[in-house]
Amino acid sequence: MKNCNQNVFQSFYSKYYDLIYETKDYKKECDRVENLIEHNPKIKKILDIGCGTCNHSIEFSKRGYHVVALDQSNEMLKIAKKKIAEKKIKNIQLVQGNAEMFALKKQVKFDAVFLLFNVLGYIKNLEEFIKNIKKHLKKNALLIFDFWHESAINHKSPGTSIKKFNQNQMEFIKISKGKINKKKKLIEINIRTSLEKEGNLVSKSEELHLVKYYNLEFLKIFFERNGFKLIRFEDFNHQGTPPNKKSWNAYGVSRYL
Ligand SMILES: C[S@@+](CC[C@H](N)C(=O)[O-])C[C@H]1O[C@@H](n2cnc3c(N)ncnc32)[C@H](O)[C@@H]1O
Repeated sequence: MKNCNQNVFQSFYSKYYDLIYETKDYKKECDRVENLIEHNPKIKKILDIGCGTCNHSIEFSKRGYHVVALDQSNEMLKIAKKKIAEKKIKNIQLVQGNAEMFALKKQVKFDAVFLLFNVLGYIKNLEEFIKNIKKHLKKNALLIFDFWHESAINHKSPGTSIKKFNQNQMEFIKISKGKINKKKKLIEINIRTSLEKEGNLVSKSEELHLVKYYNLEFLKIFFERNGFKLIRFEDFNHQGTPPNKKSWNAYGVSRYL
């Protein structure tokens, strides 16, 4: 059965999410984000939107930040909750909700908001998102996000990737096929996952992720039109270097004025 964005990161995929991204260097990414916020000691309260299983949030909490971690997927949050309890972490508050319309029970204003690992690409209505997020930001708060960069996507199209992981004598297989939809400026990623034991299928699932990509000029205008100042763009892998046509991933930093 195919799922589509409102319904992605559900039970089967979320269960294996941390296995799939076992080698993703979350600590290094948090170092990078701390560089992007220039280690400003005034930044204490952060909102991690699309926190997933909280790999960044947990690291930030260890570094002393107070984190509100928001995600629309209950399944991802269930895993996050378990990890937070096991690690006896006290300074993360989990919230289930959609970035475009969430409200918090306690009206807190944040010093910074992060959308990490292409969460911006999953947001369906950017206008609704920005309108909502402004209610939760202090003046001068920073909004940091990484995203897929249009020039690089036009330079090198997405393809198919097959990844296999072993756990408890089982093999977990993930096959992702990306197809560009230039009209909608998004990549349709068909993700098929399956679990096998000794070559026999145990279970499988399929999700369709619609992930938008952006060009720098569009983002700059969009943020500035909405009361932010776009401070910088950088290649995801090369700190201090502006994105070029080979930078599939890039970071953006903007300030709420
Ligand atoms: C690629 S994962 C990134 C998870 C996490 N930030 C990480 O780095 O591992 C994208 C996450 O964004 C969440 N997400 C997508 N659209 C969302 C929305 N509109 N509101 C809140 N969360 C959303 C998904 O449920 C998923 O957990």
